[in-house]
Amino acid sequence: MKAILLAGGKGTRLRPLTLHTPKPIVPIFDRPFLQYQIDLLRQVPEIDEIVLSLNYQPRRIEEVFGSGGDLGVHIRYVVEPQPLGTGGAIKFAAGHYSGEPLVVFNGDVLTAVDLPAVLALHRERQAAATIVLTPVENPTAYGLVETDADGNVRAFLEKPTPDQIRCNTINAGIYVLEPDTLGRIPSDVAYSIERGYFPSLVENGETFVAYVYDGYWLDIGTPEKYRQAHIDIMDGRFPAPPFQAAPGTALVSPEARIEDGATVEAPCFIGAGAVVRTGARIGPYSVIGSSCHIGENAVVDGAILWPNTWVDAGAEIGPALTGRHCHIGRQARVAGGTLLGDKSVLTDYSSI
Ligand code: GDD
Ligand code: MG
Repeated sequence: MKAILLAGGKGTRLRPLTLHTPKPIVPIFDRPFLQYQIDLLRQVPEIDEIVLSLNYQPRRIEEVFGSGGDLGVHIRYVVEPQPLGTGGAIKFAAGHYSGEPLVVFNGDVLTAVDLPAVLALHRERQAAATIVLTPVENPTAYGLVETDADGNVRAFLEKPTPDQIRCNTINAGIYVLEPDTLGRIPSDVAYSIERGYFPSLVENGETFVAYVYDGYWLDIGTPEKYRQAHIDIMDGRFPAPPFQAAPGTALVSPEARIEDGATVEAPCFIGAGAVVRTGARIGPYSVIGSSCHIGENAVVDGAILWPNTWVDAGAEIGPALTGRHCHIGRQARVAGGTLLGDKSVLTDYSSI
């Protein structure tokens, strides 16, 4: 059985972080994001091939996962000549495949959905397509999905306006699709599965089944949600590496160096090769990437610092996000919510 991970978007809402790091491999602590999805797919032993559907910076993603052997899976890469949209990308990745149903994931959702149960429902209902739904407070940023009492999808409305909202269940970005239903997707042109294929299943009265999941689910595609993913893993709300065995703790790599007189407050993460100098304070919910340097008396309070960032003495960083190889000068101040791209330099005493 094939799984297709849609991982070709540009990650515009996470810019500037995604300018050099495509969203599917933004680090969550010290793991590339898609590794969490690959962990989930491994729950289904029948899945013998994971197809990564790529468009934006494909080579960077390939370099990270290779053939998948290190993760115990078999990964194939399909690169679109131009962005084909979610539906076009699925069609392009599936080719002329027929046979077993396809498992499809949006490449930016973090969840613990019971995938074997979704497949079992799909088979039991002999569905043309099965979609995972999750309840959210504000559906406007998602695909709104209405169902009937028997769990059939009755309407699919992508990015509804507030007056169009009649329920709180949205498309969680996880599908099981029968390959013969992909015929309605045109080849080699941009086509949205959300605006084209799903509404067409409803209009044609095909067996389109909903699996409602109210456990953990998050789309990491905005800076707030990306930071939330880290908080939820640190708190154990989403039990996952590297905190699955020790939620709520300060997880310090044995290869990091915390000098005497530095303060490290739980929960937080300090990666391999990082140095925290004397008098510095790492506040709760901070993530210090590998080989970062936190200077004397500097404060990192809830920020996520990607690897190789240098924070000079006395600098203070609130809950901000900073890319790789940044330099935060002496006594500089970085307010919460700030986003700094790779190699940003903030000179001594500057504030932002
Ligand atoms: N290969 C490929 N080609 N992948 C693409 C393309 C493309 O042209 N466009 C988007 N993707 C990938 C993105 O990388 C992402 O993993 C996924 O498809 C969904 O795209 P997003 O841009 O993140 O969409 P969204 O978050 O606004 O909405 C989608 O996800 C919501 C759940 O998080 C929709 O599927 C909504 O209906 C859904 O509720
Ligand atoms: Mg998304």
